Amino acid sequence: MSSVEGDVPTWRGRWTFIMAATGSAVGLGNIWKFPYIAGENGGGAFVLVYLACILLVGIPVMVAEVMLGRRGRHSPVNSMRAVITEVGARPYWQGLGWLGWLIAVLVLSFYSVIAGWALAYIPEMATGAFQGVNPQATKDIFDTMLQDRNRLILWHTVFMVMTVVVVTAGVTRGLGAAARVLMPALFVLLIILLIFSYWHGDFSRGLSFLFSFDVSKLTLRGVLEALGHAFFTLSLGVGAIMAYGAYMPADVSIGKTVLTVALLDTVVALMAGMAIFPIVFAHGGIDPGAGPALLFVTLPVAFGAMQAGILIGGLFFILVVIAAWSSAISLLEPGVAWLAENKGFNRFTATLLLATATWALGLGTVLSFNDWAGYKVAGMTFFDGIDFLTSRVLLPLSGLLIALFVGWVLTPTVSKDELNGEQSAAWPVWYWVLRYICPAAIGVVLVMGLYDSFA
Ligand code: PHE
Repeated sequence: MSSVEGDVPTWRGRWTFIMAATGSAVGLGNIWKFPYIAGENGGGAFVLVYLACILLVGIPVMVAEVMLGRRGRHSPVNSMRAVITEVGARPYWQGLGWLGWLIAVLVLSFYSVIAGWALAYIPEMATGAFQGVNPQATKDIFDTMLQDRNRLILWHTVFMVMTVVVVTAGVTRGLGAAARVLMPALFVLLIILLIFSYWHGDFSRGLSFLFSFDVSKLTLRGVLEALGHAFFTLSLGVGAIMAYGAYMPADVSIGKTVLTVALLDTVVALMAGMAIFPIVFAHGGIDPGAGPALLFVTLPVAFGAMQAGILIGGLFFILVVIAAWSSAISLLEPGVAWLAENKGFNRFTATLLLATATWALGLGTVLSFNDWAGYKVAGMTFFDGIDFLTSRVLLPLSGLLIALFVGWVLTPTVSKDELNGEQSAAWPVWYWVLRYICPAAIGVVLVMGLYDSFA
């Protein structure tokens, strides 16, 4: 922290913001979720649509969100209020801040449970449980873990407490520094895994699965899933990026910064996919559409076969936890900041309150994999339901509203001023895409994808 502008302290320079925003963006979405939904949707065509969504919708909306945060310089709910007042917009746009808040709580509730799986894998790795295993054995280890409700609750709790500790201390203090070291470390380990997959996996089949474009595999609901995941992976629509935007120094270019973050995020997701699928195809027993289990049953096979597998495997899951941690922090922060700003709570009480409610909701996800596995509504467990509601309904909706607000309600002078549009040739392009392409694309995909999901 170096300077103080308005009410909030700002981060030093452009790289601290990039690291913090990347810390938020890179997480379970990249390493766990992207590979398994790509697998479920048949690979290639889905990946391409996903990349198009990042480029045409994700990046423009991300610019809009960071801009709103920096313009408002408060927690998301209050930043929205400040900007609404500045341009004289109708007060119900305030709802955008609230919507983000709701989504953040829902997402964090299951996010913490999955991060708990990764936590549980650290001791498994370290004790050599995966040494020399085949895919069937990793599947058994994973399934046994899912059946053990108390173990899942324990690790879910540990992860939530970790998140509370950092958010209580104040995000700007420790986070930037930590992200600077840990993100590069994760990157290096992914490269090691890639090399392993190259030598020991079926690399060419893995690549062609991920990148060959087969339209026949594409469904409308798959397109909606790709769009929703573009928001999820870039941390959009929940106020996380808006909250970090509030800490961004005024003289830093939002456009360039957002491009860097989106690029890093995409590279990590593709690297995870490229490490996982060659292993899938090198072994008969793994289904690329294995769902949420995919990461947890494929990579241990690789670690089990490596010479330094115990070390590298242990390290890998530690880094997955850290990546999830920095994302979880950014999910909790906006709500806490608002409770502290508006309701007179101190940070600790605010954090504890919100985290406890989120933790309790997370128990539904824990039970979805054991005691409640049989209870389904419209074919979905509790976890499936929350994932569907957030990724495929609320996140696209929130992104749509942001595009409409910044594209049509906010006067262009405001975004031009905040984005330094006088000097930039990119500003008119961004503005046009945000006004026309984003709302049209999100609207059509949302309606048709939902129809396809239930028809
Ligand atoms: N982007 C994070 C990931 O990919 C998840 C996340 C969503 C974090 C929304 C913050 C806000 O894992």
